[in-house]
Amino acid sequence: MARKWSEDEAAHWLNADSQREMLDLPRKIAASIVSADKGRVSKFIDIASGPGTFLKVFLDYFPDSFGIWHDASESMRNVAQKELADYSNRVSWIVGDMSGVASLDIPSDLDAVLTSRATHHFSAEELTVFYSDVARLLRPGGWIINLDHAYLGSNWDPVLRSARKQLFPGRQAKSEADHQHTRSAPGLSEHLASLASSGVKEVTTAWQTYYTFLIMAKKPNK
Ligand SMILES: C[S@@+](CC[C@H](N)C(=O)[O-])C[C@H]1O[C@@H](n2cnc3c(N)ncnc32)[C@H](O)[C@@H]1O
Repeated sequence: MARKWSEDEAAHWLNADSQREMLDLPRKIAASIVSADKGRVSKFIDIASGPGTFLKVFLDYFPDSFGIWHDASESMRNVAQKELADYSNRVSWIVGDMSGVASLDIPSDLDAVLTSRATHHFSAEELTVFYSDVARLLRPGGWIINLDHAYLGSNWDPVLRSARKQLFPGRQAKSEADHQHTRSAPGLSEHLASLASSGVKEVTTAWQTYYTFLIMAKKPNK
């Protein structure tokens, strides 16, 4: 079972987030791809949204859209409510565990499910359950968008982690001390296999830096 963060971990992670600016580009790339494909987005969710950064990018890109913020942490909700204060009439809030998306009260007519930096805690089996559950929330032709770290295998993974520390030295080290991983993240092939088993086979990686990927997966139109 993926471990839910403690409120302390959530607060420490917020202070040590060294990737926030770097990930602005892939978040905008995700919105541009959905825009090129669908033209508009009415309703979407950001799972494990934390401070709501990905949600905000989509609210800006699609000014008529309505976003659902989701996370397990009340501290994160407090932060996100401040960050998203200007969008309060376009956002609703769900606190709950992403290991049990099917049991949460989430509408099933969404145009997109976003998530960033959260599924790397899952085992391959948990990832399959997660993708199956979120695929059911989408309209035909909807998008699953996952911006996350993936395991690159024993040759590449240590090299790319070490290389990233050269560019993001100080805060990266603090973040890792606060944010412990008990096993390797799922690899890209596990993401693709889990998506395929949930019926989503049109998948592309639209951006990669080191071991962080933007996975864009489109549910079939019918
Ligand atoms: C690394 S942060 C990423 C936050 C945000 N998505 C981003 O990229 O800026 C991970 C987030 O996942 C949330 N989280 C951790 N375990 C969770 C769980 N089991 N269910 C729901 N949210 C969880 C944390 O509270 C935190 O906000």
